[in-house]
Amino acid sequence: MTTPRIAFIGAGNMAASLIGGLRAQGTDASAIRASDRGAEQRNKISAEHGIETFASNAEAIQGADVIVLSIKPQVMKEVCLDLAAHIGEQQLVVSIAAGISCASLENWLGPRAIVRCMPNTPALLRQGVSGLYSNAQVSPAQRQQAEQLLSAVGLALWLDQEAQIDAVTAVSGSGPAYFFLLIEAMTAAGEKLGLPRETAAQLTLHTALGAARMAVASDVDASELRRRVTSPAGTTEAAIKTFQADGFEALVEKALNAAAHRSAELAEQLGQ
Ligand SMILES: NC(=O)c1ccc[n+]([C@@H]2O[C@H](COP(=O)([O-])OP(=O)(O)OC[C@H]3O[C@@H](n4cnc5c(N)ncnc54)[C@H](OP(=O)(O)O)[C@@H]3O)[C@@H](O)[C@H]2O)c1
Repeated sequence: MTTPRIAFIGAGNMAASLIGGLRAQGTDASAIRASDRGAEQRNKISAEHGIETFASNAEAIQGADVIVLSIKPQVMKEVCLDLAAHIGEQQLVVSIAAGISCASLENWLGPRAIVRCMPNTPALLRQGVSGLYSNAQVSPAQRQQAEQLLSAVGLALWLDQEAQIDAVTAVSGSGPAYFFLLIEAMTAAGEKLGLPRETAAQLTLHTALGAARMAVASDVDASELRRRVTSPAGTTEAAIKTFQADGFEALVEKALNAAAHRSAELAEQLGQ
């Protein structure tokens, strides 16, 4: 397969991560272009990655196989309406914007091959995870191109239905913040138990990292791992029983439902 030529519309944080990931995977700088309305942003990204940048979005997409819409959802409609007349039939559009449906993109760009993705912030460290959905016009080769792009910043998982993007948003899109909240709470509790704040913070952070690495490497699921470290009448059991007595699982479900609901609501508003 020849290297696809990729054009990024909007050269902010997420585009920079994806470009960095692609470059680290060996994609030649000449295969990547980016546009941004800010001169400073354009200079920064071209100095960092050696790619050509453009002030004009229409110019940036010329000759590209894949067009990545990496702008904020709020400007998506305006950008798409401007690009519509310049996009060729063969060009794949990959949107990483939260809350913009394929139907809205097709309304603004015309019927075409679209992959909609939901990455998350650890993509900045190439430790992200993304859910991907492709519409019916996307060819197998284009699916591979989109997967290769998102794999440059972490794990890429395909979804069968577009509505599942709301669930992905609730689980992994917003998910890093839930872990940050737990880290905050455990650090504060550790401090109240008598540890210096910095020690409590380091203990919490490295426990989170170690537990995640252990769970990722393990061939059994998290509940089994938990059982294995929870001895009867031991310290872990005392904590877990306290969490569960106060409805921990139900609270997590309620929180994720709220995120998924908000994701669908935003899609409704932004897609008008
Ligand atoms: N960051 C994340 O963790 C994350 C996770 C999942 C999904 N996403 C999605 O990724 C997309 C990009 O997020 P981001 O965090 O990378 O945002 P960002 O850093 O703000 O990047 C967007 C860039 O696009 C530029 N821009 C704005 N209007 C433009 C236009 N008309 N033409 C060309 N460039 C334009 C912005 O310039 P100005 O600064 O001048 O506006 C900015 O440099 C969003 O849709 C977001 O929903 C992000």
